[in-house]
Amino acid sequence: MLSRPEGAPGSFRPPAPRPPEKRLGFLRLLSTLRHNPLECWSADFFREPIAAFRLPFADALLVHDPAAIKHVLVDNAANYRKDPIQRRVLANGLAEGLLSVEGERWEMQRRMLAPLFARRTVTSFGAAMLRAAENLVARWRSLGPGASLDMAAEMTLLTLNVLALTIFSDGIGDEYGDFRIAMTAYFGLIGRIGALDLLGMPDYLPRPGRRHLRRTMAYFEGIIDDIIEKRRQRLAAPDDAPEDLLTLLLRALDPSTGRAMNLAEVRSNILTFLSAGHETTANALAWSTFLLSQAPEWRARVQDEADRELQGDGGGLFDRLIVTRAVVEEALRLYPPIAALSRMAKGGDRLGERTVRPRTLIVIAPYVLHRHQSLWDRPDIFDPARFLPGATRKIARFAYLPFGIGPRICIGSSFALQEASIVLAMLCHHFDFELMPEARVWPLQRVTLCPAEGVPMRITPRSRKGGVAGIADGTALSQRTG
Ligand code: HEM
Repeated sequence: MLSRPEGAPGSFRPPAPRPPEKRLGFLRLLSTLRHNPLECWSADFFREPIAAFRLPFADALLVHDPAAIKHVLVDNAANYRKDPIQRRVLANGLAEGLLSVEGERWEMQRRMLAPLFARRTVTSFGAAMLRAAENLVARWRSLGPGASLDMAAEMTLLTLNVLALTIFSDGIGDEYGDFRIAMTAYFGLIGRIGALDLLGMPDYLPRPGRRHLRRTMAYFEGIIDDIIEKRRQRLAAPDDAPEDLLTLLLRALDPSTGRAMNLAEVRSNILTFLSAGHETTANALAWSTFLLSQAPEWRARVQDEADRELQGDGGGLFDRLIVTRAVVEEALRLYPPIAALSRMAKGGDRLGERTVRPRTLIVIAPYVLHRHQSLWDRPDIFDPARFLPGATRKIARFAYLPFGIGPRICIGSSFALQEASIVLAMLCHHFDFELMPEARVWPLQRVTLCPAEGVPMRITPRSRKGGVAGIADGTALSQRTG
């Protein structure tokens, strides 16, 4: 249940399952995995550096020791591939994209896609991120004072809007509504790890919902192929194409072979960016707003910073949002959108005292790691000060991994942090938000770690001295971005 803000500032303990003292028995484990995998983690995992676990189809090691994590994800990463369950869940339309491919194909794609997420490129997307936030602010203002809304749903729309603007510029056009509906259906389907997957059953056995997923995918692919074709035609006439992710994707060449991506790879990577960048960032934002609604002292600090930093032109804005970013990073610690990473050992290995046999499943759960008692001071307390400049050196390397680490680290991490910080600052600048009294906020692990019943909030436009980031006064900050 939700703990209300009470006691001294800095003592807010956000809602989270209380880990059972004893590990769950097999049947309980299966049902809890289906219901909410977050509730499977017993207390020992939050204390032990490495814990062994037996699954029906494999041995598993739960690894939350920074040195061992470094070994698996960085030093000996070649021995640890993404595991079959994860790949099965991700397959479908994403099969040819960066998230799913392996080996040389992954290396080639990563080289080709790196410039799309380089700092300069991501900075240039700041104006589109601001524009999406401004559209949201304008819509919320039109609802009138005291409107109630579900922050989780709103943030999902917003992050989709940011991706639409940064991938396609204005390219989805009238299809946007249908596109969004199909996409929501798609996420609803891919997220469920079924019992057949958990039991390690082969892929050819039919899974419920898969036919529906194929239809949804086919619909998507049709729209995306159409957009790609139109953009290819535009690119044939130089100077007439927006510098968005789609243009960059179509122009990307492998530096070592000079090869461009084929249609399936371009399409799969667009779907990958939409899938990987959409719910993850939306959850980071929904949790951030929730946490701020419960911690008035931090909300005031973010509001002060936003009021000050949104005054000028938008240039360099992200670098100036220091407190706001710390709040986002703390939200990513407490509620990491990707709650668990998994790998399968190809060959035998050693992790500290433990022997790793071939085909051992390695699970590194940022959710557990970020609340590990040996790595964090007051791990269950909301305290963004951990991420303020100067304090971060106290965080052990490999103890904070919301974006993973090593060769397969999230390619969109700067994009996501910039987007979440800009949007959070804009929202705090324009509105006060308050959790609805009947709200029951609870973390649920699906594909991402989301609030189970959303985050119902009442929003009230703030009255400010001096117009800032003037949406109401008609000078959008996105147009002033230098
Ligand atoms: C708060 C938001 C985000 C979080 C928490 C997040 C988290 C992650 C994590 C943990 C991984 C590594 C998975 C593993 O090692 O098994 C990953 C990979 C990836 N992410 Fe993100 N992500 C976020 C936003 C984004 C965005 C905005 C994009 C793109 C627009 C993106 C694209 C990708 C891609 C393509 C990969 C695969 C990289 C590879 O395998 O080389 N992510 N993400």
